[in-house]
Amino acid sequence: MNTEILSIYGISKKEDIENIEKTVNILDNGGLVAIPTETVYGLAADIYNDYAVKNIYQAKGRPNDNPIIVHVENLEMAKTLVIGKNKLFDNLTKYFWPGPLTLICEKSYNVSSIVSGGLSTVAIRLPQNDIMLNIIKKLKKPLAAPSANLSGAPSPTSSKHVIDDLNGKIDCIIKSYDCKIGLESTVLSIVNNEAILLRPGSITINMIENVIGKIKISENIFKEVSENQKVISPGLKYKHYSPKTNLILVQCNLEKFKFFLKTKENFSLLSFTKELEKNNFPNINIGCLDNENELNKNLFNCLRLIDSLDCKVSYFRLDEKIKNYHAFYNRVLRASGFEVITIE
Ligand code: TXA
Ligand code: MG
Repeated sequence: MNTEILSIYGISKKEDIENIEKTVNILDNGGLVAIPTETVYGLAADIYNDYAVKNIYQAKGRPNDNPIIVHVENLEMAKTLVIGKNKLFDNLTKYFWPGPLTLICEKSYNVSSIVSGGLSTVAIRLPQNDIMLNIIKKLKKPLAAPSANLSGAPSPTSSKHVIDDLNGKIDCIIKSYDCKIGLESTVLSIVNNEAILLRPGSITINMIENVIGKIKISENIFKEVSENQKVISPGLKYKHYSPKTNLILVQCNLEKFKFFLKTKENFSLLSFTKELEKNNFPNINIGCLDNENELNKNLFNCLRLIDSLDCKVSYFRLDEKIKNYHAFYNRVLRASGFEVITIE
């Protein structure tokens, strides 16, 4: 398939408007378009076109029991997708939408079981990106959109990542700015008016608890799902974000880490700014240890770059501080397949 690459850097210039019209047309005709959001690029299809939604699973190689987030333009559109009254929904959307918070709600008959992966619930989010919002507004329909990467690979934070993964497999890729946040949205289930965090993101536990009080945290956020375990969010079962290089996390301080590396060969490093810079190891700088936003923004790009260093393993020092960066910690643990060496 020939994938059309369309540049869209805003919503008001003539070229932008023309290209937005083109993408709306492609979506309205059952095509797939990769669109930037504030978190990561999404692979979008019209939620009312079953054929198009099935093609999302096909293009990504996504297991078909893993449901897809639906993106809406406003609250009114969101309400057509859910049933029942939910106080948490009203409170949370007031504070955090548009933004990187996905809410899992009881679904209405408008949402097909292909979108919901056979579940009775639907994941909804109102993104904070003018291009995405403008496309939904013109299409007048919600968009189903998982992250626009091959299943299992790091999520795409730039149009280059999408092109690397999906060129030739989908109808169109929007070429635009890199994503502002760089990690996917926080996923919170509010089914039966009970809030359970399923995936940490840049809307933090604290921020949510400040609005609705204490929430539950899924036990699998920092822990591997065991075989045959039943999970609320099917995405938790699958391998995620993994580079081809074997990523190993080493939990210790910098001194011990240097000592550890002396005993190793043929490795690369994912390292913090100003750490280990004077050494001649093949090295990818992930940002300053003290700057959580910077680390979030760089992670997926760095995970993709690791493979270009062509080493068998790559080590990343798991500093104690990282455990407080919930979204980042959750992603590196999964990227490493929970492979952690602890040096006391
Ligand atoms: O920031 C984001 O959330 C990005 C952008 C494109 O919006 N999207 C994204 O989608 O990360 P995806 O499909 O890569 O991750 C969605 C996660 C999956 O782990 C999936 O299992 C879970 O949300 N999910 C979706 N619908 C669900 C549902 N009804 N119940 C439980 N979990 C659900
Ligand atoms: Mg994904």
